[in-house]
Amino acid sequence: MSEEIYRSPRKTGRVAVLLSGRGSNFRAIHDAVREGRIDAEIVLVLSNKEDAPGLQAARERGLETLSLNPKLFATREDYDAEIVSRLEIRNVDLVCLAGYMRILTPVLCRAFKNRIMNIHPALLPSFPGLHVQQKAIDWGVRFSGCTVHFVAEEVDMGPIILQAAVPVLQDDTEETLSARILVEEHRIYPESVRLFFEGRIEVRGRRVFIDG
Ligand code: GRF
Repeated sequence: MSEEIYRSPRKTGRVAVLLSGRGSNFRAIHDAVREGRIDAEIVLVLSNKEDAPGLQAARERGLETLSLNPKLFATREDYDAEIVSRLEIRNVDLVCLAGYMRILTPVLCRAFKNRIMNIHPALLPSFPGLHVQQKAIDWGVRFSGCTVHFVAEEVDMGPIILQAAVPVLQDDTEETLSARILVEEHRIYPESVRLFFEGRIEVRGRRVFIDG
């Protein structure tokens, strides 16, 4: 069976950010866009939480925002179908999950295959799920870090784009380790988006190849 190959487009990208919380990764990506480090435009910031600080930050930056209350939808699939239509109508090329606290259904994953990125605060496949900085400390690992990956239907399992490692120190708390990892998140997430719209990302099976 021949392997499926996906190549990212070289273009001025249209990006949507999905978030549920403070939105520091969103701000890092938007800063990179504003500074011309990424050839893209953020055309929508969408949240499942009306009061997400990240949504407020997006408004203050003059971006289009939208909050969709999941309780108004009968099923998770219906909710994701609404998101897909909101994204498609804006010709979104890439969806960036940035602290988006909902598991995507196949409705969204399939509509944007190889076009949804997520940032996870651990070195996947170690420590998937939540509260992973504390889990890394409790496990006693010497290094943790963060992972930007494409979103596949299995949570935290999609092809890995970039990772950055940070040391775990003996006196680390969840807060200190999270802060050290976050610095790297803000570096490698914009970098991944930049590579995507430079047409330099190729996905072959579960491996990602980066030109240059
Ligand atoms: C980050 O730690 C990210 O890795 C995880 O959720 C957190 C979101 O933080 N997926 P922020 O909202 O981007 O500040």
